[in-house]
Formats: sequence, structure tokens, C-alpha cells
Amino acid sequence: MNWERRLYLTAHPFAYPLLRGLARRGPVVRVPGLGCVVNDAAAARAVLMDGEAFRKDGPGSPGDLWTPILGPSVLLNMEGEGHRALRRRLTELFTPATTTALCARVLEAPLKDLAARLERGEAVDLVDEMRTMAGSVICEVIGLRAPGEADARHWFEQGERVVSMVSLRSRTLKPSQVRRAKEVLGPLGDIAAEAYRAGDEATVMGRMKVLGLSEAEARGAAGAFFLTGTETVATLVPRLFALLHDTGTLDRVAADPEGLLDRAVDEAMRLTTPTPVMLRSVHAERTVAGVVVRPGDRVVIATHNCCADAGPFSLDGDAPDLKRLWFGAGPHFCIGFPLAMAEIRAVARVVLDGPALEVVSRRAARRVLLPTYSSLVVRARTAPGRERS
Ligand code: HEM
Repeated sequence: MNWERRLYLTAHPFAYPLLRGLARRGPVVRVPGLGCVVNDAAAARAVLMDGEAFRKDGPGSPGDLWTPILGPSVLLNMEGEGHRALRRRLTELFTPATTTALCARVLEAPLKDLAARLERGEAVDLVDEMRTMAGSVICEVIGLRAPGEADARHWFEQGERVVSMVSLRSRTLKPSQVRRAKEVLGPLGDIAAEAYRAGDEATVMGRMKVLGLSEAEARGAAGAFFLTGTETVATLVPRLFALLHDTGTLDRVAADPEGLLDRAVDEAMRLTTPTPVMLRSVHAERTVAGVVVRPGDRVVIATHNCCADAGPFSLDGDAPDLKRLWFGAGPHFCIGFPLAMAEIRAVARVVLDGPALEVVSRRAARRVLLPTYSSLVVRARTAPGRERS
């Protein structure tokens, strides 16, 4: 069994076989108790682009999950003009230039350390490294002053605690879960609000003030970035490395990162789909790939089925034309896309730039929403005292 399948099965032993089985039953399948499951990229795109009929607010929407803990106005539970207006103001926060600079600054020291350890032939757990690095980046985004490694780890774990409350079938959080999530998000919001009030344009939170967001909106945005932008990136990098390793393409990409890294990242995203599903509630009747959906229905876009079935991992020929569906499409397309790419590229370049590596050991993680390794230990193939494999 390939490792990606193993990661999914370990994270979701019941839901994953069900989800994959549905892919064989057609582009859109109605499943009682779950909703209309979309397995086809074109149908998924049609749903995502139609923000009038398919919404993230209202009963049965993802808003039911997030509004009780993040408040009503945090992009991922908004629609219509309010959503468009907030997005317009937030989009300039994350551009390729600002996010590349942010990652270069925040990750400079940890990446130097990582490079040195790999160079010395030490065994390095890429999962652990990524938790700290993704934690550091998100600490910077929410405005924590001079975060150390302990802060980065702390906030990564806190985010994980909240995200793991959600399963692929969750519709709402229990009151005890809402309470626990608020215990995490309250202090995080206070940090974000302080950085917002300081109004330093060089920081993400300070920029929000300059852009005219209210303090409540800035708090909410910080919470949303924290929950959506930490584990997604952290889990992807080890999976990217493992895919390159397992498909025998590691050395090829290492020899030509300029030419091949972005394609490799896209392919890894397509096959892993860090966010395996997207949810919408239906507010107007529509026909999706021949299936009629009506107000009150729920649509589950099985992003993983839409993307992973477009073919095996490949760096050659034309890539499947999915327009990065793994980051969504239409009005809710991932606003953190430039930050995610900057972070992934920064780490991948260092990992690929050093000595040729091999996987020493790995384990799949249990009880997580986003399938991932719980550890992926790598080491230089020519480490002292070891034979070149
Ligand atoms: C590998 C990394 C990532 C993946 C695969 C990913 C995936 C996605 C997807 C699929 C959506 C759309 C969900 C939907 O339409 O229902 C989304 C939205 C979003 N993402 Fe990301 N994301 C990643 C990283 C990030 C980062 C680093 C941030 C920010 C710090 C971020 C912030 C957001 C926000 C705020 C939204 C909601 C946008 C809206 O509703 O207008 N994401 N992401």
C-alpha cells in the first residue's frame, strides 16, 4: 500500500474508504445523512463559483462549525458583498513579495540550523521541524513579539487541539468543544489585538489597522489564519518529501529546483489535498452534473477524489488542468495561497539543497483531521559511518 493511502486510512479508517468508494459511483452522489458528494473537478468548480446558491453561511454550512468560536465575520463563514469587501481589504496582506520576505525573515535561523544538521549527517524529523517552522510563521502573522521555539511549538499544538475537534462528518461543535476552542482563541485574539492597536505597518496585524479593518475583524482574521494556515502547510512538506522519495524523483528535483520544484509542489498538493473536503449549504435549486440539489441540502466537495484521480504523480508532460482546486476556487479561493507557497518553497529548497537524503523511518498519525505523518525521519545518504544506498 502506498504511504499516502496509509496516511488517509490511519487518520480516517472509516470515512476514507467510504469517500473513495463514492468516487466510483459518479461525479455527484447523494448520500443520506452526509449530503451530495461531488467527486468531479468540473462539477466542484461549478459549485464553488456559484456563491449565490452554494454558501458557507446559514444552517448546515461550515459557518455552523466556525462562527461560534471565531465570530460571524471571518471570511470563511461569510458570503456576498460583506465577504467581497473584507477580502478586497485583506488580499494585499499576502502577496508573493510580502510573504517571501516574511518567510525569509522568520525562517532564516531555523533553516540555517536545519541545513547544518542535515549537512552533519544527523537524523532529522521533518514533521517536528515543520511544526516549529509553521508555528513560527503563524506567530509572526498573528503578531506575537519575538516568538521563540517554545512559543512556536505551543501555538502549533494549540491550533492542532482545535482543528482535531472536527471530523470529516462534523456539522457543529459541542458546547464543551466551543469552550475549549475559545480558551485557545481568546489569548490568541488578545495578542493579535495588541499588534493591531500598535498599528505597525510592517506587521500583518498592524497593516489590518491601516487598511481600515475594525479590531473585531482583525481578531477574527487572525483566528481564521491560525486555524487554516498552520497544519495545512506543516503537514504538506513531509508529504511532499515522501512523495518525491517514493516516486524516485527526489534527486531530479534537487538537481533542478528552479525548473521542477513548483511542479513537484503542485503535484504533491494534488495527490495529498491537505484540505480533503470543502462544504457548502444549498440556498437555491441547481442541477450539478445531472443531480438536482435544493435549499436545505448540503454539498460535500470531495477535493481529494476530484484531484487525486486525475493521474499518478508526474513531473512530465502537461499537468492535469485543475487550476489548483486543492486551494479552492471562486470567491473563497485560499487567501493564504502566496504564504503557503512561500513557506513550502523556502523549506523545500533547503532540504533539497543539502546532501542527498533518504527516509530512515516514518509513522502515520492517528486522530487527526488532516492526514499526516506523526514522524518522518530523514538523513544524509552519505552520513558518517553509513554506506551510500
Ligand atoms: C497547503 C496549504 C493550504 C491549503 C491546501 C489551503 C486550502 C484552502 C482551501 C481549499 C480553501 C477554500 C475552502 C472553501 O472554499 O471551502 C482555503 C481558504 C482559506 N485559506 Fe487556505 N490553505 C492553505 C494555507 C493557508 C494559509 C497559509 C493561510 C493563511 C495564513 C490560509 C488561509 C485561508 C483562509 C483565511 C481561507 C478562507 C478564505 C475565504 O473564505 O474567503 N490558508 N484554503
